[in-house]
Amino acid sequence: MTGESSAIDSTRPSIARVYDYLLGGKDNYAVDREIGDVFKRDLPGSVAIAFANRAALVRAVGEIVATTEVRQFIDLGSGLPTADNVHQVAQRQAPDARVVYVDTDPQVLVHGRALLEENDRTRVVPLDVRDPEGIRNHPDTRELIDFDRPVAVMFSAVLHHVNDDEDPAGIVRYWRDHVPSGSCFFVSHFRSGNNPETTEAEKVLQATFGRGRWRTDEEIEALLDGLEILEPGIVPAPRWRAGAAGTAWNDGGVRELTVWERLIAAGMARKP
Ligand SMILES: C[S@@+](CC[C@H](N)C(=O)[O-])C[C@H]1O[C@@H](n2cnc3c(N)ncnc32)[C@H](O)[C@@H]1O
Repeated sequence: MTGESSAIDSTRPSIARVYDYLLGGKDNYAVDREIGDVFKRDLPGSVAIAFANRAALVRAVGEIVATTEVRQFIDLGSGLPTADNVHQVAQRQAPDARVVYVDTDPQVLVHGRALLEENDRTRVVPLDVRDPEGIRNHPDTRELIDFDRPVAVMFSAVLHHVNDDEDPAGIVRYWRDHVPSGSCFFVSHFRSGNNPETTEAEKVLQATFGRGRWRTDEEIEALLDGLEILEPGIVPAPRWRAGAAGTAWNDGGVRELTVWERLIAAGMARKP
């Protein structure tokens, strides 16, 4: 299940590049912008979802470094380099922090190796999130991550690309069972509002990529079985740690969220 051998295909949209386009990045092709524009037209909140998600991830990394001794991150489905990548946020506060980025998208691997492997504390591993054992045993992971010490496992906007029959809970369980107590798990995930916007969004994603699963807060919580979910639980991403200092897209939790901003959830858990 490795993406190492696949070449960049500029004729078909890629999840990573469409997401990059929505975030205002430049690592995308006409085919990605075309589908990105369909998202913007049919799902007017796509851009808000992308930014709200990214901001929650940045807050999570900041919180982990500020409040725990965890200094090693595995960022699963890391995406294309953007503003404030995980290692930049972490190393700003803790220069010794180490980050293994994992993604299957060939463009992520090319750009990631150029931009994310910025120092000897970051690596990009070209594997599939559905192959947790392969990721854990990869030589680059082994070089950077000490599995005798707590790890932060980041599932930011990736588990919704894993269909039910591909056992997303089993993926989280694998990591839960292979990291020590005190390890952190961050999850952000398409959040089902059981409303027409959810149905429409799911339809567009499935039609484009054959995947994209909106889950309810309860379904997302169930993916974290056996872990201690930290307050305030699984909530709309803009509400998660709203008020934490230093991030954009953060109103302190006072503003009424749009229906779109409610379509992305975030939460953090800890292995007891
Ligand atoms: C929406 S982006 C999220 C990027 C980043 N984690 C964030 O939250 O900003 C989803 C990323 O997951 C990657 N991805 C999707 N399915 C994957 C899989 N099975 N294994 C590894 N990466 C995957 C895509 O290539 C893409 O880069």
